[in-house]
Amino acid sequence: MIKIKNLYKIYNQNKADELQALKNISININKNELIILKGISGSGKSTLLSVISSFTKPTSGVVICDNNNISKLPDRHASIFRNKSIGFVFQAFNLIDELTVYDNIKIPLSINNNTDIENKIKTAIKQANISHKSKQYIKNLSGGEKQRVAIARAIVNNPNIILCDEPTAALDKNNSLRFINILKQLKKTGKTIVVATHDSLFDELDFVDRYIDIEDGKIKP
Ligand SMILES: Nc1ncnc2c1ncn2[C@@H]1O[C@H](COP(=O)(O)OP(=O)(O)OP(=O)(O)O)[C@@H](O)[C@H]1O
Ligand SMILES: [Mg+2]
Repeated sequence: MIKIKNLYKIYNQNKADELQALKNISININKNELIILKGISGSGKSTLLSVISSFTKPTSGVVICDNNNISKLPDRHASIFRNKSIGFVFQAFNLIDELTVYDNIKIPLSINNNTDIENKIKTAIKQANISHKSKQYIKNLSGGEKQRVAIARAIVNNPNIILCDEPTAALDKNNSLRFINILKQLKKTGKTIVVATHDSLFDELDFVDRYIDIEDGKIKP
């Protein structure tokens, strides 16, 4: 599902503040695998997720995601690829406070000519366990509820790949455990999932397929 070969990401190349964020990364992630990406702050986790989702272009190397070679996708194609293939859950939720839960979840569906919008939202909102708040405004929700809306929005388009960047960083333990439980359910639907986190609640989960350690931009053997 995700094939990465000899990936380098260098920020500010050939400038005084040049920084090698990813160094010769090669990983294959199979369909329906759930991967936990671990590593200390600054090790390159967010950069790697950003490259996989085609927000960030690699400096060199090959990245193939969901049968798309995204290493050199022009921006317009990258956004089409993202909308179709990737669901992204951010630490800061990135929701629109002035819209309702329902309308936030609808956003990814407004980009293409979507059909059956009502049903898609219903399914996602249910999977993310937030149906009871569908008419509420985001600003009236708790942190845990906001994160569940963010999950619903990430899965509403039925993407094959779900990427989560520190998804529990703003949640208390109880809500983090609920998040982990939703991940477990999502894995059962066949999704390929990568979660970047340093939350120890993700350690030793029996439904995780692999833990990958990243240190100073390199995969630890
Ligand atoms: N846009 C950017 N321009 C320049 N350097 C960057 C940029 N984004 C990240 N970096 C640098 O790349 C390195 C990896 O950053 P990244 O955000 O991927 O780490 P991380 O593992 O996600 O850290 P954290 O756990 O704090 O989120 C860091 O040294 C960071 O300062
Ligand atoms: Mg990060």
